[in-house]
Amino acid sequence: MAMTTQATPPTAGGSLYIPTPARIRAIEDLTEFERLFELEFLDGHPLGHDPGQFVQVSVLGIGECPISICSSPTRQETFELCIRRVGNVTNHLHTLEPGAIVGIRGPLGHGFDVSEMHGKDVLIVAGGLGLAPVRSLIQYILDERSRFGRFDLLYGAREPKEILFKDDLTEWRESADVDFHVTVDRPDEQWRGKSGVVTTLFKGLPKLDPAETMVVIVGPPIMFKFVVLEVLARRIPQHSIYCSLERRMKCGIGKCGHCQANNVYVCMDGPVFKYGRLKAMREALE
Ligand SMILES: Cc1cc2nc3c(=O)[nH]c(=O)nc-3n(C[C@H](O)[C@H](O)[C@H](O)COP(=O)(O)OP(=O)(O)OC[C@H]3O[C@@H](n4cnc5c(N)ncnc54)[C@H](O)[C@@H]3O)c2cc1C
Ligand code: FES
Repeated sequence: MAMTTQATPPTAGGSLYIPTPARIRAIEDLTEFERLFELEFLDGHPLGHDPGQFVQVSVLGIGECPISICSSPTRQETFELCIRRVGNVTNHLHTLEPGAIVGIRGPLGHGFDVSEMHGKDVLIVAGGLGLAPVRSLIQYILDERSRFGRFDLLYGAREPKEILFKDDLTEWRESADVDFHVTVDRPDEQWRGKSGVVTTLFKGLPKLDPAETMVVIVGPPIMFKFVVLEVLARRIPQHSIYCSLERRMKCGIGKCGHCQANNVYVCMDGPVFKYGRLKAMREALE
């Protein structure tokens, strides 16, 4: 599949301003606070996204919020969103049942430039809810496996009960296509896996080839700060490090200024950025 980097947000057959109706096909509880929603457009058109892009999800009479697309464009019939309930819109989304209709604007923003990763080794480091935006890229790499070199995936969660996508984790652990490791900061009595922050998993990594490795880091700012130090210590150039940034957003299409960091509209230019660019945006890392 040819993946493109869009100069302007694509419309996926709909309008950037008017939500397109989509039906919830299935809902799965991932943790106490996160649910996985599988959606399809009523007219059947595919979402047509790049890994790392997001949509604005709306509930009539309640509101709208940005949510990352967590399924790969290689799995086209439906698309998936992992939604943590934190407030007005997300709490309401958690009350919905399969069959309910929501509004979707998008796909929006710039995702990962997967064509740049073709032929390269890929290391993905995800923390907490950061696994949701990179899951689309993980699925993409696994579906197009022959286009990539070595694939390492490190995931850290605070506690075992916060681990997302447990079925995927079992699949990745057993797969020869990815070298996957997971750790938790605070193990409980049942936990038999590794414990410690996600950077402790770097000890088990093979030597990275700085010229041939692309690194993707998605997680809370504190995790990002320490993971990027590990990666830079392995001489990976800044232009080979991708990250995804979360800012408050309203319009999602560069009109309202809510997401602005320095002179950048995160909704349009991001949410995925190269580390070199992000470093220059001081506000974004604060
Ligand atoms: C590009 C992008 C991708 C995202 N992807 C996901 C995703 O895949 N899954 C997911 O669950 N969430 C994701 N989010 C966060 C999600 O958009 C917010 O949680 C949501 O907007 C909250 O809306 P609400 O109406 O439920 O909460 P509100 O009623 O607006 O607020 C509830 C609480 O959350 C805080 N809050 C609201 N918005 C944000 C925000 N953007 N960042 C931090 N705190 C916030 C408020 O201060 C308040 O304390 C993403 C955000 C962005 C910008
Ligand atoms: S959210 Fe409105 S400009 Fe980015």
